[in-house]
Amino acid sequence: MSQTRSLRLGVNIDHVATVRNARGGAYPDPLRAAKLAEEAGADGITAHLREDRRHISDADIDGLMAGLTVPLNFEMAATPEMQAIALRHKPHAVCIVPEKREERTTEGGLEVAREENRLAHFIAPLREAGCRVSIFIAADAKQIEAAHRIGAEVIELHTGAYCDAHAEGHFEARDRELASLREMSAYAHSLGLEVHAGHGLTYDTVKPIAAFPEVRELNIGHFLIGEAIFRGLVPAIAEMRRLMDEARG
Ligand code: PXP
Repeated sequence: MSQTRSLRLGVNIDHVATVRNARGGAYPDPLRAAKLAEEAGADGITAHLREDRRHISDADIDGLMAGLTVPLNFEMAATPEMQAIALRHKPHAVCIVPEKREERTTEGGLEVAREENRLAHFIAPLREAGCRVSIFIAADAKQIEAAHRIGAEVIELHTGAYCDAHAEGHFEARDRELASLREMSAYAHSLGLEVHAGHGLTYDTVKPIAAFPEVRELNIGHFLIGEAIFRGLVPAIAEMRRLMDEARG
């Protein structure tokens, strides 16, 4: 993604594909959404090719690689199939996420500490192919240290628990989550990792996270695609961008 902005916005277009797949066929087209997101000021596009292909398809990834002018952040599970696809496309960035078939969305961060050896071997060829490797983890020092040891350049902190606590009105829990995200952003940065964050962010929850000076990129999808129903995709993204810039001062 563009290195010129201190806080980049990656727009996740998975749920344009969810709507398309509800009926089959070709409409709405995730690539068209991605091009509009570029127009609205997205610094990058994120897409998660899930093992069960419930939203983004292999053909979507082909189209995004061919049609985007901003970088693609390719989210994937640490499986041989996904590794082969990533090595074929060599996207700008690969974000390794945990994946369970039965989950509705990516529920937690990756257990890097438990699988350090396997993940170190898994990401090595991706790094050699020139992809920036990011690991999606909870705000937990043990996971951050493991991500650092396996050679990841980037960690993405899972903001889902913070956003859920806010949505449910559990403000003490929300503030605890926020404090630990803040502390772990600074810790990861001190180890030399680039820090990204995302999952569940909305207009109501984005600013405190965007204000962390160490965070370089936010990846936001579901809320923006939903908000686009009411105000259109370009204005929905432009408003998120405005809030991020405001938080950054
Ligand atoms: N970052 C990662 C690693 C994700 O897995 C997701 C969801 O696919 C997001 C960001 C975006 O989350 P949301 O769609 O809730 O904004």
